[in-house]
Amino acid sequence: MTSPAAQAEAETFYLKDYTPFGFEVESVQLTFRLAPHATRVLSQIRFTPKPGAADPQFFLHGEKLNLISAKIDGVAVSPVITAEGLTCDTPAEPFLWEAEVEIDPASNTALEGLYMSGGMYCTQCEAEGFRKITYYPDRPDVMSTFTVRIEGDEEVLLSNGNPVSQSQGLAEWHDPWPKPAYLFALVAGDLVNHPDTFTTRSGKEVELNIWVRPGDEDKCAFGMEALKKSMTWDEEAYGREYDLDIFNIVAVDDFNMGAMENKGLNVFNSSCVLASPETSTDANFERIEAIIAHEYFHNWTGNRITCRDWFQLCLKEGLTVFRDAQFTADMRSASVKRISDVIDLRARQFPEDQGPLSHPVRPEEFQEINNFYTATIYEKGAEIIGMLKRLVGDEAYRKALDLYFDRHDGQACTIEDWLQVFEDSTGRDLTQFKRWYAQAGTPRLKVAESFADGTYTLTFEQSTAPTPGQPDKDPRVIPIAVGLLNGNGDEVQPTTVLEMTQAKQSFTFEGLASKPVPSILREFSAPVILERDTSNTERAFLLAHDSDLFNRWEAGNALSREARIAMVLTGAAPDASYLDALQKLVRDDSLDPAFRALILQPPSQSDIAQALFERGHLPDPQKIYDAAETLTQTLAQQLADSLPRLYADTTVQGPYQPDAVSAGKRALNGRILSLLTRLDGGDQASRQYDAADNMTQQYAALAALLTAEKGTAQSQAFYQQWQGDRLVMDKWFALQVAAAPPEATAHIASRLTEHPLFTLKNPNRFRAVMGALAGSHAGFHHASGAGYQLLADKLIALDSLNPQTTARMCTAFQTWKRYDAPRQALIRQQLRRIKDTKGLSRDTNEMVSRILD
Ligand code: PHE
Ligand code: ZN
Repeated sequence: MTSPAAQAEAETFYLKDYTPFGFEVESVQLTFRLAPHATRVLSQIRFTPKPGAADPQFFLHGEKLNLISAKIDGVAVSPVITAEGLTCDTPAEPFLWEAEVEIDPASNTALEGLYMSGGMYCTQCEAEGFRKITYYPDRPDVMSTFTVRIEGDEEVLLSNGNPVSQSQGLAEWHDPWPKPAYLFALVAGDLVNHPDTFTTRSGKEVELNIWVRPGDEDKCAFGMEALKKSMTWDEEAYGREYDLDIFNIVAVDDFNMGAMENKGLNVFNSSCVLASPETSTDANFERIEAIIAHEYFHNWTGNRITCRDWFQLCLKEGLTVFRDAQFTADMRSASVKRISDVIDLRARQFPEDQGPLSHPVRPEEFQEINNFYTATIYEKGAEIIGMLKRLVGDEAYRKALDLYFDRHDGQACTIEDWLQVFEDSTGRDLTQFKRWYAQAGTPRLKVAESFADGTYTLTFEQSTAPTPGQPDKDPRVIPIAVGLLNGNGDEVQPTTVLEMTQAKQSFTFEGLASKPVPSILREFSAPVILERDTSNTERAFLLAHDSDLFNRWEAGNALSREARIAMVLTGAAPDASYLDALQKLVRDDSLDPAFRALILQPPSQSDIAQALFERGHLPDPQKIYDAAETLTQTLAQQLADSLPRLYADTTVQGPYQPDAVSAGKRALNGRILSLLTRLDGGDQASRQYDAADNMTQQYAALAALLTAEKGTAQSQAFYQQWQGDRLVMDKWFALQVAAAPPEATAHIASRLTEHPLFTLKNPNRFRAVMGALAGSHAGFHHASGAGYQLLADKLIALDSLNPQTTARMCTAFQTWKRYDAPRQALIRQQLRRIKDTKGLSRDTNEMVSRILD
């Protein structure tokens, strides 16, 4: 155990310190002799010293390994071993390194390296888990071909690449594509498969499998369809074909993240692949489709072209998120996808970028890389790609990507390589654009306008507040998509992209008959905060007329935000013109139901808190909650006459289908039901609950009832019906907390942690309860501090078992400086208590230290 003092001095890694490894790894051969508490791993690795290498020292990473033997060219050696790895004298010529280590997968609760989940063996190596399996240069720029032999009693023994041989108790796999160790995977278990095949466009037949525990085989069909759609889409949109004979997906219950793109053997959190109408909601289906696509797309953006070092993480993640968003837009509705993504960006990335955890999309230092799988790297990373594409145009983007795949296939690359491809193929200078990768913080974009003699001028001013370690910011390139409307709501200037490069810059539009209404930042063309003095009248006008669906939604969102801010600050009644506009839209059957559902989704309470804070007010979570309640209640009353008709019209008839159109209708139907439930005492929701033959409707009914403080009977029935299904029980756990009134949230969450089905060892279950607590704005920030204390208690308990999930959940505290002094004191006390915990992990220590700073 490290002492708190030692933790404070945890090593920091810097981008500027990069040096290549001093050896080529020609080939890797691994043999696994599986046993729950004593698995033996034999490695045979061919190394060739690089002539004139800057760092010829032979260092192999290795953590918590029991070294049984080590040999070089068949002769026993005695390496020097530390907590991080080993060093050894090596010949100047190519040599064969052989080692045997013993590891204990059954005791591995961190879920990194080789571990066990529900009786099956499973690995997770990204980012630095391979070093917990054997000694190896565990860095992404070391790429090699792997041959893997697995000896075990399990029926199914899987690894990367193509199968070489399979027999009882033994399997051999060979992956012909050189890869870094973080893409290594092994799975062994008594699994069953859902098989299929895919023929690539050049005519190669690929065997596809989704492997699950017996009993789950009826939940694979949707994921399989999503996989085949992804394979086709990547061929069509990016010209990328699959490159092995087989593609395996495995579902595992205990997993820290969503899924992992190991070469030819993707491992999925079961919540991100298993789907059935009875157990999964529409939102689950959509998310599963997107994650399957995301992991599949990594085969080219991540695996064939990987990252030089972990500072370049956004190279694969930003690009792959961008690609999966394009895929979802193509499969479903582009505008609905864009709106949902922006909601998500504002909910998760903006607070990160404006708080103590703010970091550049390409960070320059870290202590624990696991702490940098963030919304900034993923989602802001994807936004940067979107801006680049908007600046160069669709055709030039495709050409640049072709060059990227051509030039860098088989390499471990940097952001410089990525931008160079765009510079070379378009002739553009991207020096200034690169600031998006280097500078943290969300730019604010102030807008002023003027009109004279038919000329309309928009003047923009950009600025970014200081972030940790970056006091001064330079102006960035900002693509601002703008359209103009006349007083009738007709578009007089179709969308055009203004390219802002200065701190302050004006753009003019000529030949206009009258002063137009601008629609700025269409499709959310840049991840910035737009600041514009505008009236609710103009917002209502855009909400009614804008041809850009994103900005229509945005106008409604702003109206809702302003209405609620006014309610919080002055106790005013909800703004009448806002309610009016909303009612019109909800009743407008010509509009996409999914869009109408989004319009009915109010800004989150945390968003309101942030907006208040930025305007110089201390956000009071209880008041924000009350305003939201009043607004919903008022809306329900005003819509009272139409609700039964709207409910009937949006009810989807016939057998459940997870397609986007039906899902959109059900989303609106669910919103209508929750409004109805505020008026009818829960009658309609109870009927829907009883009649539901799918989880979307069953869950929507239960959520509506519990939120209205009804539904005790249904909640018990739900528990009885689903207690044997882990994934459905996660929903049950989360909903109890999410639907609780603020004063009861912490108490209910606390009671649930005593429930026999609660366990610290399953990240999904932990997140169901603690994530719902952190996500309940008024509940978590209740003045009693009970929410803070409970979360800290459980984080301390989890840390010794699973540092990665603990550290990630610490982000719940990242917005603490928004709140009043008593709350800040309560949070600081809990953060200190976590930090002072003896033996605290490096992961959690780094997060808590940064948040406290
Ligand atoms: N690379 C995975 C993805 O983005 C995420 C992941 C990171 C999974 C680290 C596990 C561990 O798809
Ligand atoms: Zn990814």
